[in-house]
Amino acid sequence: MKLTTIGIIGAGHIGSQIARLAVANGYNVVISNSRGPETLSTLVAELGPKARAATAIGAAEAGDIVVVSVPLKNYRKVPVEPLAGKIVIDTDNYYPERDGHIPELDNETTTTSELLQAHLPTSKVVKAFNHIYAAALTADGQPAGAKNRRALVIAGDDKDAKAGVTHLLDQFGFDTVDAGPLTEGWRIQRDTPGYGPRRTAEELRRDLATAKRYADQ
Ligand SMILES: NC(=O)c1ccc[n+]([C@@H]2O[C@H](COP(=O)([O-])OP(=O)(O)OC[C@H]3O[C@@H](n4cnc5c(N)ncnc54)[C@H](OP(=O)(O)O)[C@@H]3O)[C@@H](O)[C@H]2O)c1
Repeated sequence: MKLTTIGIIGAGHIGSQIARLAVANGYNVVISNSRGPETLSTLVAELGPKARAATAIGAAEAGDIVVVSVPLKNYRKVPVEPLAGKIVIDTDNYYPERDGHIPELDNETTTTSELLQAHLPTSKVVKAFNHIYAAALTADGQPAGAKNRRALVIAGDDKDAKAGVTHLLDQFGFDTVDAGPLTEGWRIQRDTPGYGPRRTAEELRRDLATAKRYADQ
């Protein structure tokens, strides 16, 4: 299936940057926030004719692939039914000072993207874009094959969904390092070596291998 429309739930630092990259690479974008489409007119005007604003349900319905980029505390508000069967990219991170304490993350019996996957049982959740600062998304991309190209981590349980996201990342200017299933997503969570800095694929693989869980830091 040819993916032509990217739905985006969350139009903040990361969501708006992903929208810019998507439009620049020829995708249609349907973007949403919590306050309503009318509050996104400035961003939509900047993005141009390939973009429009909608509700979160509208963005979920319209997207062939949908990005969730909201404060983690709101993940249960992400619409379930319109995302059924779709690839859902999860950028979210856990910051207790912002999100409140989530016991199963504090005791590390699960990970952020597994929580979203449990909320969206038939969607194909792929963790991506969680460890790059928003501004770097449009600054660090380079064509495929560029020397020392920056790499980004993905994790997910569906092979085809990961292949689709790998293709998208390549179009956006980044190599991909596959951390494995969603259960391995902790290797790129807050405070791990790969979280934030610019890394090539080789460096990032080392970072993933040396990552420690919160309890072991
Ligand atoms: N900032 C970064 O550099 C960065 C990097 C990697 C990952 N992340 C992670 O990515 C996520 C987004 O970060 P951000 O910095 O982009 O956040 P942000 O600037 O605070 O933007 C959050 C966006 O989510 C929207 N939102 C909140 N609840 C929603 C809901 N129920 N339905 C639809 N939209 C909703 C907000 O809309 P309203 O404004 O209308 O409420 C806002 O547009 C976070 O989990 C963050 O930890 C951030």
